[in-house]
Amino acid sequence: MPAPVEIGPQDRLFVLTGAGVSAESGLPTFRDSNGLWNGYRVEEVATPEAWMEDAEKVWRFYSMRRRDALRCEPNPAHYALADLERDLGDRLFLCTQNVDPLHERAGSKRLLHMHGELFRSRCEAECGRPDFFDDGIYETAADIPRCQCGAQIRPHIVWFGEMPFDMDRIFAELDRCTMLAVIGSSGTVYPAAGFVQQAHRSGARTIYIGPERPLNATMFSEVVLGKAGEVLPGLFTVPKPD
Ligand code: OAD
Repeated sequence: MPAPVEIGPQDRLFVLTGAGVSAESGLPTFRDSNGLWNGYRVEEVATPEAWMEDAEKVWRFYSMRRRDALRCEPNPAHYALADLERDLGDRLFLCTQNVDPLHERAGSKRLLHMHGELFRSRCEAECGRPDFFDDGIYETAADIPRCQCGAQIRPHIVWFGEMPFDMDRIFAELDRCTMLAVIGSSGTVYPAAGFVQQAHRSGARTIYIGPERPLNATMFSEVVLGKAGEVLPGLFTVPKPD
């Protein structure tokens, strides 16, 4: 087992999770499956162009992922992060690239989904109606719900070419963290792949956790090789005040 990482009373920990944190729950990662998700090429169903061309196909893809996510349970990595939040309170900032709800189902409360959420939808025309909870399964064009304004309802997901959510808050948290832990992300998709450089510039200790070195491995001060569900429980220690 790797040496424990002690989180001192002045530390602030920024955690970024990627698809790897949900792998042991049974959800396929993007690159491990060659960018294919049960037969879908991610780029063909996760771009604004794909939506304009074939909204039905896009909704079939996200409906399938809703079904997949409902079949999965959080794993020990999700629970370890929820436990850590109970110890650290707002000194932990959890940012996930994942759209599945496994962190919140494990008990995490202060959580930012920078790439959106599988079980939320919104108006494609951004008419002013806020995004909303939606667990619908839409298989045909006729199933696709319409907003009050008449436009189609789309998944509340950040597609390639769109801006991730809450970047101002993310950059502010990166500036003030003293530790960054990135878990299960291949380091290929920006801006998330660049968070390690920003945290490093702010003087933070930077740790990567996953079974193989990510593309941006050289940017980290430490790389801990192993599965998130095996490494994370017990990795971080928070000494109790006397
Ligand atoms: P990737 O599929 O690119 O990378 C998953 C990483 O998880 C790989 O580096 C694996 O080695 C690692 N991994 C596999 N099993 C693991 C385990 N048990 N424990 C820990 N790590 C494990 O996924 P992301 O880096 O998250 O974006 O992909 C980033 C973004 O690209 C996604 O959010 C998505 C995708 O296109 C959008 O949809 C906008």
